[in-house]
Amino acid sequence: MSIALVILAAGKGTRMNSDLPKVLHPIANAPMLVHSMRAGAALSPARTVVVAGHGYDAVQSAAQAFDEDVIVVEQKEQNGTAHAVDVCREVLQDFNGDVIVLFGDTPFVSAGTLESMVAAKANNAVVVLGFEAADPGKYGRLLMSGQVLDRIVEFADATDEERAVTFCNSGVMLADREALFSLIDNVGAENAQGEYYLTDVVGLARQRGLGVTAVACDESETLGINSRVQLAEADAIFQAKARKELMELGVTLQQPTTVMLSFDTVIGRDTFIEPNVYFGPEVTVESGTRIRAFSHLEGCHVSRGAVVGPYARLRPGAELSENVHVGNFVEIKNADVGEGTKVNHLSYIGDATLGSGTNIGAGTITCNYDGVMKHRTTIGDNAFIGSNTMLVAPVTVGDEAMTGSGSVITKDVPEGALAISRADQQTKLGVARKLFEMLKKKKQKRALESE
Ligand code: UD1
Ligand code: CA
Repeated sequence: MSIALVILAAGKGTRMNSDLPKVLHPIANAPMLVHSMRAGAALSPARTVVVAGHGYDAVQSAAQAFDEDVIVVEQKEQNGTAHAVDVCREVLQDFNGDVIVLFGDTPFVSAGTLESMVAAKANNAVVVLGFEAADPGKYGRLLMSGQVLDRIVEFADATDEERAVTFCNSGVMLADREALFSLIDNVGAENAQGEYYLTDVVGLARQRGLGVTAVACDESETLGINSRVQLAEADAIFQAKARKELMELGVTLQQPTTVMLSFDTVIGRDTFIEPNVYFGPEVTVESGTRIRAFSHLEGCHVSRGAVVGPYARLRPGAELSENVHVGNFVEIKNADVGEGTKVNHLSYIGDATLGSGTNIGAGTITCNYDGVMKHRTTIGDNAFIGSNTMLVAPVTVGDEAMTGSGSVITKDVPEGALAISRADQQTKLGVARKLFEMLKKKKQKRALESE
C-alpha cells in the first residue's frame, strides 16, 4: 500500500515567544519540521504534504530545502487539526493509498513505530499512535475497548473519569485516504475549543462500523515542543541518543555530555573525541581520527588518521586528507589539505589547495580577501611555508618550494625555489646597551625630581 505523508505545521507556537515559526526552531541544527519529515521519510512516502500557515514562506522554503518534491499547502486560518488535514484534500484527490498524519512539532517518532502502525493498518481503517503518559496533562485521551479504539476525547471536553485515563493521543494517525476525507466531512466544531478536531475521526469511524485501533510507543517519541524549555529538553534528548549511537558504533567520547552533535553528523569507528567538541551541520569524520578538545567543526570532511585540535576550527569546505594534522588556533575554510600535511599552530587557511607532505609554519595566513573578491592560494607537495608567511592570493607555491619566515608572498614561487620577502636585517653592535643606559638614567632623573 502506498503512503502519503501529511505534516501539520500551521500553528503559531505562541509559547515560543518568537518571530520564527515554531516548527523552524532547530534541534541539533535542523528545524524540528525537518526532523518530522525525516521520521516520515522512513516510510518512503509516495507524496509528502506540509500544511503551513504562520510564517508560510519560511516554512515552505525549509520544507523544500529538505525535500524539493514536497507539496506545501496553506492553511490560512487555524481552525483545528481536522481542518488542517482537510486543506490537503485537493492535492491528495488522485492518491490511492493510506495517509499518515504527523505533527511538525513532534519530531521524534521512530521509524519502527511508524512501521508498526502500518502493520496494524492491515486490519483497520484507522490507526492512532498512543502512549502511556507519566503525566497525561492536557493530551487527548484514547478510550479503548480491548484492542478497539472507540473514541478520542480532548482534555477540554473530557469528564473527570475520562481524564483519569493515562493512555494518550500522540497526534499521529494513519488512515485510508478515501475514508479519512469522508470522515472529516462529518467532523463538526461543537466542542470546548470550537475547533475541528482530527481526533473526532475515530468516533465517526466506529459509528460507521470501521475498524480502529491504537498502537503504543514510548512517551519519549511523542514529545511535543511548545516552549524554549521543551526545545532545550528535546535537543538534550536528541544529543543523548545520538551520542549513544556513536559509542555503539565504536566511537570513543571521552566526556559524552560535552560533545554536541548535529542531526547529520557522521563519525567513523575508532575515532577518539576529546571533551568539548562541537559538530555543526554536514560533518563527516572517517575512522581512526582524533578530534581534540574544544574544536569546532562544520561542513567539513576529516579523513582517516587525521588529528584535529585542540582548539581548531574547521569551517565549510574544509577537506582534510588522510593523516593531516591541524593544531591549536588554526582555522581552515574552503580548502583541500593534502595527505600528511601539517598546519599545527595559529594559522588561517582559506580558499586554498595544499598538496601532500607540506608543512605550514606557525602564524601562516592566506590573505584571500582583497575587500571585494576572494582569491585562491595553491601550495604544492612537500613544500615548507616558513612561520608567519602571508600568502597574498591569488598565489601559487610549487612543489618542494620554501618561503622564509615573515615573508609576504605576492608572486608565485616556482617548484624548488626559496622565496624570502622581508627587510634585510641590520645589526648595530653595542647600540642596545647604549639605549638601555640612556633609559636607566632617565628613570633615575625622574625619581629624583619627584622626591
Ligand atoms: C493535539 C491533539 C491531542 C493530542 C496532542 C498531542 C487534536 C484535536 N488534538 O492537541 O489529542 O494529545 O495533539 O500533542 O488533534 N495545527 C495546524 N492547524 C491547525 C491546528 C493545528 O497545522 O488548525 C498543527 C499545529 O501546528 C501542531 C499540530 O497541528 O503542529 C497540533 O496542534 P495543537 O494545537 O498543538 O494540538 P494540541 O492541542 O496539542
Ligand atoms: Ca490546540
